[in-house]
Amino acid sequence: MPENNSSDKKDTVYASPMTSVGAFKFDENVADVFTDMIERSVPGYGLVLQLIGLLAERYAQESTNVYDLGCSLGASTLQLRRHIPASCHAIGVDNSAAMVERCRSNMGRDHSAATCEILEQDIRDTEFSNASVIILNFTLQFIDDDERQTILNRMYEGLNDGGIILLAEKVRFDDEDKQTLMTDLHHDFKKLQGYSDLEIAQKRAAIENVLVPNSEALHLERLNTAGFATVMRCMHCLNFSAFLGIK
Ligand SMILES: C[S@@+](CC[C@H](N)C(=O)[O-])C[C@H]1O[C@@H](n2cnc3c(N)ncnc32)[C@H](O)[C@@H]1O
Repeated sequence: MPENNSSDKKDTVYASPMTSVGAFKFDENVADVFTDMIERSVPGYGLVLQLIGLLAERYAQESTNVYDLGCSLGASTLQLRRHIPASCHAIGVDNSAAMVERCRSNMGRDHSAATCEILEQDIRDTEFSNASVIILNFTLQFIDDDERQTILNRMYEGLNDGGIILLAEKVRFDDEDKQTLMTDLHHDFKKLQGYSDLEIAQKRAAIENVLVPNSEALHLERLNTAGFATVMRCMHCLNFSAFLGIK
């Protein structure tokens, strides 16, 4: 699993019974255990991180900006920094103060040549310019559904010709039988990673209205609508997919 210099604390956020389960937040408790949480919750997460490195090698253009939106602890930002030309500038953005504080510290321990800044900001306010690579690694799913197209359009406008967007998301299936099967298999995956039935049920209740997945078809349609010349799915595992848009 690609390392990201953060602490390796075990995620026990939902391990004890709760009288009422509040809405999921990217707060201190989650930031403290986030690496373990995402690695054990998202099948294919480590693979997408490696893919981000490969894409950065291929598509980052000299003297451009590369963006990691919803950077959390900086796992994807580190992949970018380590695989872009020294003349590039990496910009990580997250609106969780707990994540940003830890991400800045993680970036401070990395000595890649490319410069880097971590902004505490809502990605709906981020300005994109002279961009060659934009990463949304499991972030767009937390933005209001009716604002997603507008954000993608703005990213497209900020990208240089030949630039790319990598969009990784939890996805849902229109066919209810497939949706049920993939949800069950995802829960089986989490049990395999050591989560209890209680942890899975409480996390599910917490995240239900916070993470709103779209279908793969809608993601592809949005990227096409934004204007990308090439749009394709580049990773798929159970109910998690990654999409590549090339301008
Ligand atoms: C699932 S995590 C992303 C994981 C990360 N990209 C990685 O590769 O490890 C989602 C992140 O998006 C951030 N986020 C959610 N909504 C946001 C918004 N509107 N603006 C900025 N960051 C946001 C959260 O604080 C959280 O850190």
